[in-house]
Amino acid sequence: MTTFVDLCSDSPIVDAETAQFTPRQADVFPVGPHAPGLDIVGAGTTVPLATGGSIEYANLDHGASAPALRAVKETVDAVLERYASVHRGAGFHSQLCTSLYEGAREPIRQFVGGRADDAVIYTRNTTDSFNLLAHCLPAGTTVIVFETEHHAALLPWRGHRVIRLAAPDSPAAAVDAVERAVALAPEGPKLVVVTGASNVTGEIWPIADLADAAHAGGARLALDAAQLAPHRPFSISEFGADYVALSGHKLYAPYGSGVLVGRADWLAEAPPYLVGGGATATVGDHSTTWKPLPERHEAGTPNVAGVVALATACHVLRQADPYALADIESRLSERLSSELARIPGVTVHSLWGPAADSIGVVTFTLKSLPANLVASALSAEWGIGVRDGAFCAQPFVRKLLGDAGCASPDGSGHAIRASIGLGTTGEHVERLLAAVRRLAEFGPALEYTVVDSRPQPVADVREQPVLAPWLG
Ligand SMILES: Cc1ncc(COP(=O)(O)O)c(C=O)c1O
Repeated sequence: MTTFVDLCSDSPIVDAETAQFTPRQADVFPVGPHAPGLDIVGAGTTVPLATGGSIEYANLDHGASAPALRAVKETVDAVLERYASVHRGAGFHSQLCTSLYEGAREPIRQFVGGRADDAVIYTRNTTDSFNLLAHCLPAGTTVIVFETEHHAALLPWRGHRVIRLAAPDSPAAAVDAVERAVALAPEGPKLVVVTGASNVTGEIWPIADLADAAHAGGARLALDAAQLAPHRPFSISEFGADYVALSGHKLYAPYGSGVLVGRADWLAEAPPYLVGGGATATVGDHSTTWKPLPERHEAGTPNVAGVVALATACHVLRQADPYALADIESRLSERLSSELARIPGVTVHSLWGPAADSIGVVTFTLKSLPANLVASALSAEWGIGVRDGAFCAQPFVRKLLGDAGCASPDGSGHAIRASIGLGTTGEHVERLLAAVRRLAEFGPALEYTVVDSRPQPVADVREQPVLAPWLG
């Protein structure tokens, strides 16, 4: 049973000399694991500080990639004891792994609320899923996409007509923009591609209304659920979305797999995405015939461990009470964004304002310090992991920050992103707030120099542990 305490009473304790943070008892409210079976591998691991000593790692970078669920690791470990390549092996382990590999499509379909006749095609990640979908679009397709998308959803549509929509100033404006764009698009197949939750602002997009708008104009809708899936339950059949793409590594299954689920027709008619073994039915001297879905787009020896990991995460997350998880997360992220916004010199960036429904992803900037210096100091002095840059969403970050905020030559932008996940505790959030308050007022406690484009403390006693036999 999770107990919440009032986080707003006093400030946590920060030593003015060393900038070290000691959480008060009241700052620590247990939120990880949130529910039985949601134990996270590596939770509570300590990391070294640049000045010496160590502290529990505050991983606030779940938006980039999430650590494995314990249940995922244990299932993969068990499968690896009996690992063999799938499909054409007659051995017991090969047949066992084939059953696991094929059986994994069902928990994944259920997790995304797929229809019985939707194709479930394994990929490497969301990027790969959208490139596969782009490959399968019929000739003459018009793709409609907002400039706010992650590059993985914004860019794969080369070779097709693309209508790029400006960032809408409200969810309703997003729906209007799609309605107008599908009406104006030339005759022929049309596809609207949209994220479920922004990887920059965390804001949740009105997918069901967007799907209605797309369908009313004869378009299909592809949902980028890379960020939504780890945070909120959803169903593509209830949304009316035609396709969904997601990544295992953001869903507590970091073993190199992803998935594309959706309408089978375009996928079945397209030539194989990759050409090679596994996708072939017959190979003659002068001609080749291809297998039907899903093998058609899964050429090469597949990633059995990754697929098992993804299906296990889907199964485990589906068993948990998703509304309780979202509730815990929204308390943490509300605390994070509202307190950050109260710090003088800090701006929290959003498209639709603080009242918009969001997942636990918060992007902010400090007036007085570059984002990469803030991120380095958070790591070196506070043991906090965040991300800085433009988060593979350069057009959107340019829009939010303006050109001046994106002054680096590669246009990579200068924002800091803190993102919450199942292992996040109240102490992690309080530590970040304490650190940003201090950085905004006094700057970093240490002196920094740039090494390989990243600020690093001039004096740094941290050493990386030797985790691989080929290191050290
Ligand atoms: C919203 C969104 N879409 C797509 C992607 C791409 O995911 P991947 O790098 O796993 O392909 C990301 C990754 O950050 C993302 O946040």
